[in-house]
Amino acid sequence: MKFTIGFETEDLKTLHEYWDSIVATHQWTEGRFTRTFEEKWSEYNGLESVSFSSWAGAALAALEYFQLAGKTVLCPSNTFMATPLSVIKAGAAVEFVDCNRHDLCMSYADLQAKIEAHRPAAVWVVHIGGHVAFEIEAIAALCKKKGIVLIEDCAHAHGASWRGKRPGSWGEAGVYSFYATKTISTGEGGMLVTADKGLAEFARQYRNYGKPDYGVAGFNYRMSEFAAALGCVQTDRLAEIVAWKRAYAERHLDPRFPNRVLFPAGMESGYYKYIVFDPVERSTGKVYDTPCHRIMKKGGDFPNTDWVAGHHWCPPLYYKGNADGDAG
Ligand SMILES: Cc1ncc(COP(=O)(O)O)c(C=O)c1O
Repeated sequence: MKFTIGFETEDLKTLHEYWDSIVATHQWTEGRFTRTFEEKWSEYNGLESVSFSSWAGAALAALEYFQLAGKTVLCPSNTFMATPLSVIKAGAAVEFVDCNRHDLCMSYADLQAKIEAHRPAAVWVVHIGGHVAFEIEAIAALCKKKGIVLIEDCAHAHGASWRGKRPGSWGEAGVYSFYATKTISTGEGGMLVTADKGLAEFARQYRNYGKPDYGVAGFNYRMSEFAAALGCVQTDRLAEIVAWKRAYAERHLDPRFPNRVLFPAGMESGYYKYIVFDPVERSTGKVYDTPCHRIMKKGGDFPNTDWVAGHHWCPPLYYKGNADGDAG
């Protein structure tokens, strides 16, 4: 199974119509497709949505809104470097938390210990691989009790839910990526989701140099109308793409890979990755080969993170869709 982007070729016609209309109306940015993409994402995710040119811009908006410069932010070591780098870019200090072996996501037990050790102002939780972090409820309750800001890295989590709740719903904000390998993509792009109207307003100004009154020290993180139009088409297909991947996983992969990430009842994975704990011949590689604490040469003991880096593999699971037959 070769890598393919989660895109339904039937949607090309609609996409070209959208793009033709953008060209014709001469509004190539900050127009109706940006608004529509955000509305569609809000409908899907149940939170206010603000689009960005990348995950990175949306992450910075959230971190700056909570004024974390000079403070400490905890982040799992088992993540992409984007997560700790966003903390550093926001002028904060990053400290790492270990993960669990069974879900690859932040360990509640180690989070408790690291909160005591580092007194953080905020925590990044990362939903690794397409499912929601199994301990998200306990993590969110602990952060709330301690007055710590919780931000969810939802870069992998399109289409996931836990007992009907979508990623981004437990923390103060969630940040999705629409980078070119994600479950659905706009080539480059990101979306901040939040129930906090103040943050949503801040984010809108932040992505646009602080316009209209420059009260926010923003920069340019706007999404173009062409990418937003693609986002509209992709959001309309998201449920179908994820359902296809789920059916493929259940029918073809689950019987072959009993030693895998096993989801608790109530967990719906978006299947960004299919993660197993035995070597497989045709792996697409690891979610991450090298933990961030090793890349950044930080000291400390992260035994589960190191174990996960050496003991998981990802058989390919890419959307083939209507053009190449169904998941059966
Ligand atoms: C966990 C995680 N966080 C953040 C990012 C960064 O997203 P972007 O490339 O859209 O900035 C990625 C991947 O690209 C990711 O996998």
